[in-house]
Amino acid sequence: MKLNRQKKKAAPKITDGPIPEHIAIIMDGNGRWASRRGLPRTAGHAAGSEVFRTIATYCKNIGLKYLTVYAFSTENWKRPASEIEAILGLLDKYLREAVEKMERDGIRLALFGDLAPLGDSIRSLIRQTEEINERIEGFQVNLCLNYGGRDEIRRAAAAFARDCVDGVRRPEELTEEMFSGYLYSKGIPEPELVIRPSGEQRISNFLLWQSAYSEFYYTDLLWPDFTPSEIDRAIEAFRKRERRFGAV
Ligand code: IPE
Ligand code: IPE
Ligand code: MG
Repeated sequence: MKLNRQKKKAAPKITDGPIPEHIAIIMDGNGRWASRRGLPRTAGHAAGSEVFRTIATYCKNIGLKYLTVYAFSTENWKRPASEIEAILGLLDKYLREAVEKMERDGIRLALFGDLAPLGDSIRSLIRQTEEINERIEGFQVNLCLNYGGRDEIRRAAAAFARDCVDGVRRPEELTEEMFSGYLYSKGIPEPELVIRPSGEQRISNFLLWQSAYSEFYYTDLLWPDFTPSEIDRAIEAFRKRERRFGAV
């Protein structure tokens, strides 16, 4: 028997194809977004932090394992004190919320960066998130805070040297894999895809070691204008790339 009713074709979903395990994002363009609206730069950071929440939830929902975001670099201390204070205030607020909600939402949170110069409040919240992580499995957000790729490599080198002095390691046995174990990203696969909005096409000291063979996706969108559809577009672009890793 022939059916008259025509079956409507469902729109293709991003989850119909392979999803990378790990995406990293340089959340850039907050200041320009605000300036274009005649707002203070801090308004851009506030809008950007909301977008981060939306994107993290979306990445979890499509089945990503790791999302690494660049929130504050070791170079961002060069900014006016008032702007730094506003950014750190937003991060404090986010961590406070995370402590409340991460278990319910099933989002693990790891911090990459030199946390020593950050305030007591942020550091105590981070300790709380570390405890909560032990009860959660699955999707993980790596928040890069006072993070610099060179600083991360420098620290790893110093930690390895210390282990050599202590007789735990020998210089001759150092492999790339062993060195990776001294980085903040220890045990986490390298990002297959690095996304940078805002029109800038540079790495700005982000994941220098880990992005050796990442695919890069640039967009002129400013971070506060970023949407889940843009994640889909980046993944679609990624699927078309031919990754050779130096082979033919
Ligand atoms: C990214 O946005 C946020 C941080 C670097 C903390 P920016 O503040 O760099 O925004 P633009 O690049 O000035 O537009
Ligand atoms: C990179 O953006 C750092 C973060 C997004 C946290 P910047 O705005 O600091 O980078 P540059 O100065 O344009 O290279
Ligand atoms: Mg910027």
